[in-house]
Amino acid sequence: MENIVIITGASSGIGREFARQLDRLQTKMDAFWLIARRKERLNELSSDLRTKCRILDMDITDQEQMEDFRLLLEKERPAIRMLVNCAGFGLMGTVQTLSYREQEAMIRLNCAALTQTTCLCLPYMKKNSRIIQMASSAAFLPQENFAVYAATKSYVLSFSTALGQELKARGIFVTSVCPGPVDTEFLEIAEKYGKTLSVKKLTMVSAGRVVKKAIRDAYRKKPLSVCALPIKAFHVLCKLLPQPLIFGVMRLLK
Ligand SMILES: NC(=O)c1ccc[n+]([C@@H]2O[C@H](COP(=O)([O-])OP(=O)(O)OC[C@H]3O[C@@H](n4cnc5c(N)ncnc54)[C@H](OP(=O)(O)O)[C@@H]3O)[C@@H](O)[C@H]2O)c1
Repeated sequence: MENIVIITGASSGIGREFARQLDRLQTKMDAFWLIARRKERLNELSSDLRTKCRILDMDITDQEQMEDFRLLLEKERPAIRMLVNCAGFGLMGTVQTLSYREQEAMIRLNCAALTQTTCLCLPYMKKNSRIIQMASSAAFLPQENFAVYAATKSYVLSFSTALGQELKARGIFVTSVCPGPVDTEFLEIAEKYGKTLSVKKLTMVSAGRVVKKAIRDAYRKKPLSVCALPIKAFHVLCKLLPQPLIFGVMRLLK
């Protein structure tokens, strides 16, 4: 039985960085299963890694492809030691200006596909395994102009926190990763119709930093991983201050 790590969204940004850092850590995994739609990117990544990789170029919102994934797991019966759910995207713009199709696509990928991938992998996870879920600091507060994205990330945080409680009995640990802006291709996609607040961009960090902390927090069995002081402060303020006050301050910063 192979010991494996599964990473969704491995073709770019944070997911790709997870593959690189886990490879460097020499975790003695037999293989990484790398999932995303862009096959060339996954092949490129795989050729840089020492760990053997299985390339699964697939769209995780496509039910036929997810059925193939389920059958592959059933056939191979791997021991999934770590699942990293990174595939996700966001689009800025108001609920009225974005099309329903675009907003539903965020819900399907960030919520439904993440949940489905988790459910499909769980039967193959052993004691002491880890699940790392990419949420976002957007999970801490409803956000105008990013309403559906922020709501999907609140879902990821809530779902993963509850899942972590449920899995305690099996000795499987779930960590939700909630960074602020990270320097990846994410923003190019997110800013198709709108711009991020410049103050937010001041808190931008590298994917390397987010992933290093996330891996450390996952090994320490922490349910939440928040990188960088400004975002930690934002998290605390969101818990302490009334929402209308925070919304007012955010408007002033526009
Ligand atoms: N960057 C940020 O500022 C930031 C901040 C907080 C949280 N996050 C979260 O972190 C995660 C990773 O984002 P990132 O910054 O690394 O963005 P990214 O560079 O755009 O990476 C997104 C990844 O998701 C994959 N993906 C998108 N749609 C997919 C689909 N239908 N099926 C399979 N894979 C799909 C993409 O690969 P293909 O296009 O090849 O399919 C890509 O590998 C996301 O969940 C994002 O919401 C990002």
